[in-house]
Amino acid sequence: MNSCPSTDQIRKTFLDFFASKDHLILPSYSLIPENDPTLLLVGAGMAPLKPYFTGERRPPHPRIATCQKCLRTPDIGQVGYTGRHATFFEMLGNFSFGDYFKEQAIIWSWEFVTEILQLSRERLWISIYREDEESFEIWSREIGIAEERIVRLGDEDNFWEIGPGPCGPCSEIYYDLGPEKGCGKPGCTLGCDCDRYLEVWNLVFTQFCREADGSLTNLKKTGIDTGAGLERLAMAMQGVTSLYEIDLISPIFKHFAAL
Ligand code: SER
Repeated sequence: MNSCPSTDQIRKTFLDFFASKDHLILPSYSLIPENDPTLLLVGAGMAPLKPYFTGERRPPHPRIATCQKCLRTPDIGQVGYTGRHATFFEMLGNFSFGDYFKEQAIIWSWEFVTEILQLSRERLWISIYREDEESFEIWSREIGIAEERIVRLGDEDNFWEIGPGPCGPCSEIYYDLGPEKGCGKPGCTLGCDCDRYLEVWNLVFTQFCREADGSLTNLKKTGIDTGAGLERLAMAMQGVTSLYEIDLISPIFKHFAAL
């Protein structure tokens, strides 16, 4: 891929990559959830696919990939204060329903960011769920990430859920925008509120179901739910440090500024 692709090219490249790995490519679902009284708006690529993870419905294919329109409200208070938060965004995702799991999801995500997008390995960092030794082994032994670049985080950062339904521990890929974008505080690392480490991809190992009473039960089959922020990948690829500077958004921003 060329060194400064458009956001449209990144979206297409992602979907083509997962089509080549036998994923069925589906168009984005509506922002308004269908038959899901637990959500007002779709805030993640997996939200419309919940019944496929729980086994309530049979997916048209065990592997799916989408670019889902999202509106995420829990972090809406940060919009305008950071370079990486937006109200509306597009989320790229590959999903497995009882098919591949952790190892394959990690291998493909790394292949995509380092070989297809050719993001600099020097700038990439990994987070894993605190007790997830299996992910640690895959990232360090199979992929070859230096141990000091694999950061363990807790429930708040690395356990993913959206209301009742399928959920699980996750592992994330971060892109370092450089010390000049950081807060400079001692201990600043992945998960810090500042703009230095940009989370570009979240790999969720979907293995539990959050029940309505708050308890966790095991899903019958494990699954994979990944989400890569399209506009954030574009930031990294286009060498800018704010979502508002990428090719897709900056013309809108400039237009309103002119008005
Ligand atoms: N569900 C996870 C997220 O939205 C990964 O797709 O971050």
